[in-house]
Amino acid sequence: MIRWGIIGTGKIARTFAAALQGLDNSVTAAVASRTLENAQSFAEEFGFEKAYGSYEELARDESIDIVYIATPMHKHYEDTLLCLENGRNVLCEKSIALNTKQAEEMFAKAEEKGLFLMEAMWMKMRPAYLKVRQWINEGRIGDIRYIKADFNNFIPFDKNDRLFKPECGGGALLDLGVYPITFAVALMGEPSSIETHAHIGSCGIDLSNSVTLLYPNGAFASTTSGFEVQNRNNAVIAGDKGSITMGDWFFCSPECTLYDAESRQIEDRLFPPEINGYEYEIREAEKCLAEGLKTSRAVPPEETLTIMRIMDECRRVWDLKFPQESAL
Ligand SMILES: NC(=O)c1ccc[n+]([C@@H]2O[C@H](COP(=O)([O-])OP(=O)(O)OC[C@H]3O[C@@H](n4cnc5c(N)ncnc54)[C@H](OP(=O)(O)O)[C@@H]3O)[C@@H](O)[C@H]2O)c1
Repeated sequence: MIRWGIIGTGKIARTFAAALQGLDNSVTAAVASRTLENAQSFAEEFGFEKAYGSYEELARDESIDIVYIATPMHKHYEDTLLCLENGRNVLCEKSIALNTKQAEEMFAKAEEKGLFLMEAMWMKMRPAYLKVRQWINEGRIGDIRYIKADFNNFIPFDKNDRLFKPECGGGALLDLGVYPITFAVALMGEPSSIETHAHIGSCGIDLSNSVTLLYPNGAFASTTSGFEVQNRNNAVIAGDKGSITMGDWFFCSPECTLYDAESRQIEDRLFPPEINGYEYEIREAEKCLAEGLKTSRAVPPEETLTIMRIMDECRRVWDLKFPQESAL
């Protein structure tokens, strides 16, 4: 049995807690909020044993095996270090940090303390994604020449929403773009260069962006993310012997389809989630803990850091710094 703690009681914490409730080996042990009242009502709703009115109290609770950090981007660094300093393993939401420097320090601290740290990149543990990887590894589409992956959700401007606040690490790139970029890097590796454009809003964050990853063999991946339009967000992986599509909202799509070089459908697979789709990353973290691993092979730190470097480079090109970085 793995005893889970959750830090933050927002939208994704609720979804994650619902997945924990459906798993036999996972114990909903403690939840922490900035207010005790929130923590108590969350604990009651999702059957948590303990509720804390501060993140510190949960971090110090020695009965907790692993803490899931579900706070906004700008808090991940601080909240992860708090847990690691107090001896807790951590599964931290995406994007793992504001920038590469923070992420490197987080992984270095986990290593120093001999603790587990993984970015909660749930896409990579989902069955449809694993099937796509398998097809690629079997050579079913040959060498990948091109990937297209998008994540654009229309979100009306709200000055109080973390997504539009630079001080919260807002912007489409870190919130949405991290998925298509991770997808491309996981399947094609680290690019040799990137080309990127962004529409920066008057609130000081990227409202929409495009990031093209370029590879030495001429292959490339084209990604977009943004809050300004709503699209279907599917993905295509094209190789010299065939292609693969992933259904709408590719990063959580249950569906993937394999085509041959003439675009004839060869195989179509559907993997409905067992609970709500977050069960796979929970199982991965629990398996790592059971095996005594300090990092996940499914979401390796080297890859997380590669993606952070790409996102840093995008923001360098756009001349967009978060307020926390202004002295850098
Ligand atoms: N994996 C996924 O599918 C997925 C989906 C959505 C979001 N996410 C990620 O999950 C994280 C949280 O996103 P969310 O949509 O759940 O956010 P949210 O609804 O705004 O919740 C964030 C929670 O963090 C806590 N918090 C601590 N400091 C805060 C601050 N200064 N401002 C606002 N909240 C603060 C709050 O909990 P307390 O008041 O209880 O302390 C708040 O409820 C982000 O990193 C996001 O990228 C992942």
